[in-house]
Amino acid sequence: MSEQNCIGVFDSGIGGLTVVKELFARLPDERIVYFGDTARVPYGSKSVDTVRRYAKEDTELLLLHQPKLIVVACNTVSAVALDVVKSLAGDIPVIGMIEPACKEALRISSSGRIGIIGTEATISSKAYEIELHNEAERVGKKIETFAKACPLFVPLAEEGWEDKVVAELVVREYLEPLHEAKIDTLILGCTHYPVLIKVIGHVMGNDVKLINSGAVAARQVKTLEANSLKAKPEHLFLVSDIPRKFQSIGERFLGYPLPEIKQVVFEEAWVVNP
Ligand code: DGL
Repeated sequence: MSEQNCIGVFDSGIGGLTVVKELFARLPDERIVYFGDTARVPYGSKSVDTVRRYAKEDTELLLLHQPKLIVVACNTVSAVALDVVKSLAGDIPVIGMIEPACKEALRISSSGRIGIIGTEATISSKAYEIELHNEAERVGKKIETFAKACPLFVPLAEEGWEDKVVAELVVREYLEPLHEAKIDTLILGCTHYPVLIKVIGHVMGNDVKLINSGAVAARQVKTLEANSLKAKPEHLFLVSDIPRKFQSIGERFLGYPLPEIKQVVFEEAWVVNP
């Protein structure tokens, strides 16, 4: 393989495939090397230090494949460890999920009442709110933000239960405060959530615009990517563990058949109380 011939993408697991789907749609000739850290998912309920350590190791793995660009297809990593990825990547451009989604929210929100949903780690980092308020100040727009962690959305998506009654009950329970706050734009700040977009849209109603952070980020990748297109890309999908349903759920997330999925193992020594 020639140098820097792929776009490296990583997530804590399967959720980043919703971003790969958008990349496939916009950049069909690009080769994707994807890593899903399925052995250590979820990241969203872990501490900042742990997610930063995982982000470092995930980036090191992708760098072995000499990517020309890295997409951090995980909002949790984008929220608490984007600087870790960027410092390891050096000159290689890194696209996270947060900045593109915030720009889009400010562009499409008419009332300035913007909701954000994500994992516990993403929401408690306030990364979205900080970025939204900074960007709003830059463009001279008045906004109010409403954030809500929705930890049960990830297992619902992983289980493939997005069309079941339980999904609607859970979505209603979490999103009621945002509905009452009369937001007009909602950022799906987790790469698993596009799987639930139908039920989220149903619960929030037609007046609320939904932003798929991965889709907006993929648009930004396309703007950066003007050259080095390959005619017949051979994608590579790596995981740190092969869960029972990765293939079937992954193919549903992606909307395409997955090629052979390879397993990788981190070989590191344990350190007790460093
Ligand atoms: N895909 C992750 C994100 O976008 C959520 C899953 C997890 O908790 O690891 O934050």
